Amino acid sequence: MGNDVAMQPRQVVLTGDRPTGRLHLGHYVGSLKNRIDLQERHDCFIMIADTQALSDNFDNPCKVTESIVGVCRDYLAVGIDPTKSTIFIQSMVPELFELTSYYLNLISVARLERNPTVKAELQQKSFADSITAGFLCYPVSQASDITAFKATLVPVGEDQLPLIEIANEIARRFNRIYNRNTLVEAQAALGKTQRLVGIDGKTKACKSLGNAIFLSDSDDVVKQKINGMYTDPNHIKMSDPGTVEGNVVFSYLDAFLEDRDELEDLKARYRKGGLGDTTVKSILADTLHTLLSPIRERMALIKDNDVWDILTSGSAIARGVAANTLSEVRDAIGFGYDKIRK
Ligand code: TRP
Repeated sequence: MGNDVAMQPRQVVLTGDRPTGRLHLGHYVGSLKNRIDLQERHDCFIMIADTQALSDNFDNPCKVTESIVGVCRDYLAVGIDPTKSTIFIQSMVPELFELTSYYLNLISVARLERNPTVKAELQQKSFADSITAGFLCYPVSQASDITAFKATLVPVGEDQLPLIEIANEIARRFNRIYNRNTLVEAQAALGKTQRLVGIDGKTKACKSLGNAIFLSDSDDVVKQKINGMYTDPNHIKMSDPGTVEGNVVFSYLDAFLEDRDELEDLKARYRKGGLGDTTVKSILADTLHTLLSPIRERMALIKDNDVWDILTSGSAIARGVAANTLSEVRDAIGFGYDKIRK
């Protein structure tokens, strides 16, 4: 997507992240980079989804609340500009939860249970048999996040597509049942690299699996992580021909090395034999250094107080927008009692 969507007529963009730790390179290529392009031409809302994060961390709220500043600092350091994007905290917009109450009627439990994103998360976590109502229903709350802002574009990783589908189903049902055009459907804006593999090569990079490179990792930590990356187990001597497919170092170079000719040349030399893992890894270390060092420098300059100011004023703006939609939703249902009496 990238530039094509950025060139479309003005859109409302809404996206969010669960605050359960710092953001990593998977977030960067999957969604953050898109947001930076999109904020230049569109109305962008970026939400720190503390309430959603609570749905699987309700017994450890500190993990959520203590991650908020870090996530916002990561946003600001990669180039999300609070004068162009409204950054806010989900729980500071209580209108979202009233919307969720109305939307819960518009979707069946069976439909929620069939959701592939929720299914995959359940498999990864241990509460398969004791799934809470809150967790099963978080896609409904996500539909509130998207529709409250009348978002038309949602920059996310591909794992979020089933959630956007549910939001659109709810929006269509709402408009049909209450006979209005109150809610708007959204389209996903996918990043260039959809699923950045973890440094262990096994699954996608994911903070809960401990296999990600964080935007806030120091150069030394990044190097250590690169050194531990899985390459091609049959590429033992430098002269052996190597395989690029499934080789984690090359997956990262695919995602981050901007010079595509150099990349193709490296791949050809690796396949042929004669290019060592150490060399490829040091090229990746340089590439990530170029990307991450300015981000880290900016991160160090951002003060907690400034972050809270941005979040407080962003949340007030977001609240105003969500309140307008909520009022239309209440009117559509027939709950606009205060207006009837006037
Ligand atoms: N589910 C998203 C995640 O896990 C976070 C999120 C919450 C979100 N509400 C959203 C993303 C609305 C896009 C739109 O990262």
